[in-house]
Amino acid sequence: MHALRGVDLDVYRAELMMIVGPSGCGKTTFVSIVSALMEPDGGVCEVFGHDVPHLSEKAKTLFRRYDIGFVFQAFNLLPALTAQENVAVPLLVQGIARKEAMKRAAEALVSVGQSDRHGALPSQLSGGQKQRVAIARAMVHRPKLIICDEPTSNLDHATGHMVMELLKNLTEKSGTTLIVVTHDNRIFDFADRIAHMDDGRILNVEIIHPKKRNP
Ligand SMILES: Nc1ncnc2c1ncn2[C@@H]1O[C@H](COP(=O)(O)OP(=O)(O)O)[C@@H](O)[C@H]1O
Ligand SMILES: [Mg+2]
Repeated sequence: MHALRGVDLDVYRAELMMIVGPSGCGKTTFVSIVSALMEPDGGVCEVFGHDVPHLSEKAKTLFRRYDIGFVFQAFNLLPALTAQENVAVPLLVQGIARKEAMKRAAEALVSVGQSDRHGALPSQLSGGQKQRVAIARAMVHRPKLIICDEPTSNLDHATGHMVMELLKNLTEKSGTTLIVVTHDNRIFDFADRIAHMDDGRILNVEIIHPKKRNP
C-alpha cells in the first residue's frame, strides 16, 4: 500500500501550513514522517537542516524531544496526571528537575488561560480545556515546529475557533512553525497556506495569507 506517492512541499519558518484532504489520503502518514515517527521508503525529508529519515534512532528521539510539539485530535493527555503534570512531561523527559518543570508548566497553563485548572485531572476537564492543556504541553519546551493532527475535530465550532486562535497567537509570538492537519473547513482561514492532498499526493498549495516567506 502506497500511503504517499508524490508529496513535494516546502514549509516556511513561522508559517501556519494546513494539510487538507479526505480521510485516508495520507495526512497522518505525512506528518509522521516529518516528525520522525515513521520512515519513508524513499524521497527526501529535511527539517531544520536534519535529514530526518536518516537520523540515528537516538538523534530522532532528541529531534522529537527538543524540536517538535504535538497536538492530537483526541488530546492524548495522560489520565492519571493533573493538567500541570501533563504539561510538565516534555520537560521531565528532557531531564529538567521536577520543581523547575512544574514551574514552567504552570506558566504555560497561564498562557493558554488554564491557570485555575492546574490541579484538575483530564477527566475533570471539558474538550476545549483538554485541548488548551494539550497546547500548553506542545509549547512548554519551546519547540521550533508544532504538528497538530485534526486538533479541532472533537470540538464544537466556537471551541475549535478558540483553540485555533490560541495556537495562532502563541506561535506568532514565538515564531514557531505550525503544521495543522485538518478536514475542518471552519478553520481554513487561520492558515497562511493550505496544501490540498488526495490519494497520497499534494494536488496544489493555496495561499491564504501571503505574508511569510522564509524557508
Ligand atoms: N499502520 C498502517 N498500516 C497499513 N496501512 C496504513 C497504516 N496507517 C495508515 N494506513 C493506510 O495509509 C493510508 C493513509 O493513511 P493516513 O495517513 O492515516 O490518512 P489520513 O490521516 O489522511 O486519514 C490509508 O489508506 C490508510 O488506510
Ligand atoms: Mg489522520
